[in-house]
Amino acid sequence: MPADPSNPAPPAPAILRVAILGSTGSIGTQALDTIGHLNALNAQGRHPTRYEVVALCAHESASKLAQQSGVHPGAALGLCNPAADQSGLSPALLTRGQDAPVRLVEDTRPDLVIGAIVGIAGLSSTLRAAQLGINIALANKESLVAGGKIVTDALFQSGAKIYPVDSEHAGLWQCLLSLEGPQYAPPSAPPESIRRVTLTASGGPFRGRSLAEVQDATVEQALNHPTWTMGKKVSIDSATLMNKALELVEAHWLFGLSADQLDAVIHPQSTVHAIVETVDGSVLAHMGPTDMRCPIQHALTHPHRATSQTRPLDLTAIGSLDFQPVDPLRFPAINMAQEVIKAGSSSGAVLNAANEAAVEAFLKKQIAFGTITAIVQNTLERFDHCPADSLESVLGIHAQARAIATELINSNTAATP
Ligand SMILES: NC(=O)c1ccc[n+]([C@@H]2O[C@H](COP(=O)([O-])OP(=O)(O)OC[C@H]3O[C@@H](n4cnc5c(N)ncnc54)[C@H](OP(=O)(O)O)[C@@H]3O)[C@@H](O)[C@H]2O)c1
Repeated sequence: MPADPSNPAPPAPAILRVAILGSTGSIGTQALDTIGHLNALNAQGRHPTRYEVVALCAHESASKLAQQSGVHPGAALGLCNPAADQSGLSPALLTRGQDAPVRLVEDTRPDLVIGAIVGIAGLSSTLRAAQLGINIALANKESLVAGGKIVTDALFQSGAKIYPVDSEHAGLWQCLLSLEGPQYAPPSAPPESIRRVTLTASGGPFRGRSLAEVQDATVEQALNHPTWTMGKKVSIDSATLMNKALELVEAHWLFGLSADQLDAVIHPQSTVHAIVETVDGSVLAHMGPTDMRCPIQHALTHPHRATSQTRPLDLTAIGSLDFQPVDPLRFPAINMAQEVIKAGSSSGAVLNAANEAAVEAFLKKQIAFGTITAIVQNTLERFDHCPADSLESVLGIHAQARAIATELINSNTAATP
């Protein structure tokens, strides 16, 4: 059911208790920066909400976590890698081990979880927050790609919502807010007013180069994204366009859209983030600066708005906006996403697991850049697909798919594109 546009948004809370999982990464640190900015506005009487950071969680970056703990002294802390050095962290505040994100969510019961862990490691805490009825500002797209059914089932049951942080989904959400009313938030059934949604992709560092030219691209070249500064995994995903593939699957789960309603287009300026075509032929687009603090702040203040600290978008400086079709032979990941959305079941978890294994292998210089998507495709083809309807089954599928991908990585011939 679309939200009633005549039903006004509720007043902003005086205090919002926030847990940041993945606080030491690119999104996590920008979330903390945005919270600092909003709290400064609050102190000046320019924003109604004060944000209290109640939990901070990293994998192994103990010294960064200790610095963050100094700024937010009451926050519970999590360190997921059991082998990580914990010096500088207060033992009284610290939870250790792989299940630290889940335990922090359970123990602190925040109003909002910022899901900024990279990869499948983010799934359990996203799911737990959804089960507990806690809204999630989600950057960790892999949770939805691998566990879309279990996470959205839990959200529909608890009534909690996802406030997308991924810039394309944040843009799409904002287009839909104007169509569906101020209380609209995913997950949702497909809004009846939508005919089609297009997500934009910058094309990454190798846009315009042939597959042969980039086959042996170095790690440094692949990490050199033209418009965004991000963590390593998402930067490599952007270079293969697997990031856009994961985002198409993410959009399917968030907004209830079918494969036929979703596509991607190359847009080198990364200024337009999402385009929504309505059934009457109108086209709404979301534009914004290439600064993740914009979508992060939108998720923190929804359904209200606050003055941002980001540089305003200057369209005259950008000059022109270009759009090009995605060449399916050059970027096979996009077709894989369409197939995964149609197939459902274990295919999302397999796509994600094979890609995680292949990207790790590329970063360790075990495989060529041009081999990453071939490993994912081969793993999808070899996998004996099955339902992905519990956390255990999704994690089992992930492990099996990683094993197949690892076998391909270790073999010299099977992964050749
Ligand atoms: N960066 C962007 O601009 C951007 C934009 C849109 C969406 N996203 C999505 O946001 C997510 C995070 O991306 P990012 O660029 O911020 O990544 P990142 O810079 O690599 O940071 C990842 C964070 O997750 C933690 N982490 C890593 N492995 C973990 C594990 N096994 N268990 C628990 N925590 C773990 C890291 O802790 P340590 O520091 O201790 O390693 C770090 O805090 C990804 O899903 C990405 O696709 C990112």
